[in-house]
Amino acid sequence: MKISIITLFPEVFKPLVKTSILEKAQSAGKLKVELVDLRKFGIGRHKQVDDRVYGGGIGMILRIDVLDAAIKKVKSRLRRSKVILLTPQGETLNQKKVKELSKEKHLILICGKYEGVDERVRKLVDEELSIGDYVLSGGEVPAMVVLDSVSRLLPGVLKEEATQLESFSQNLLEPPQYTRPEDYKGMKVPKVLLSGNHGEIEKWRGEEAVNKTKERRPDLLKKR
Ligand code: ADE
Repeated sequence: MKISIITLFPEVFKPLVKTSILEKAQSAGKLKVELVDLRKFGIGRHKQVDDRVYGGGIGMILRIDVLDAAIKKVKSRLRRSKVILLTPQGETLNQKKVKELSKEKHLILICGKYEGVDERVRKLVDEELSIGDYVLSGGEVPAMVVLDSVSRLLPGVLKEEATQLESFSQNLLEPPQYTRPEDYKGMKVPKVLLSGNHGEIEKWRGEEAVNKTKERRPDLLKKR
């Protein structure tokens, strides 16, 4: 999969792109990340990307012509591209959506600016996504969330079992996990996990996942 990110701050993505799962996905040839500096498409000597709001208003918003030029340049001639604007006004991202996105060939993520974007930009994109009901200072952190959550689901990046059983994949939270020491200041690892009885262990994990979900996220159980 290719993920292109159109942003005014390409630098902020570099440490993340070089790290951990993302680095592994790229060196395995499963993922290609392209950072596109929106400033390069800016207008005039000052490479202006934003402008004042018609009718009056606070701040400067991103211009449609600048974004249009960037999207056109980035759209792949070979592959179908899905263009996504990160905005608090979008559909809220969840694991189901992440899974859907992980099946695409080319995602183009557009990082909005906190003052906003020209409304007509909405005509240039396939989807609008929000990462939650709060306002961030730009679409960069949300784009990182999409990049990270989608990349780890690409086939061959993580062991498949790891992503099948994790939280939300079946609208269940994960059961509790423990490592050494077996007894820490009187807090003991449940006996069943030390029993070596795999049948019993799986049964316990299934029950604990349901109990934990009931207690913390009963809304998820309703979706099952
Ligand atoms: N830009 C600013 N806040 C955002 C949010 N919550 N989700 C996506 N993009 C945003």
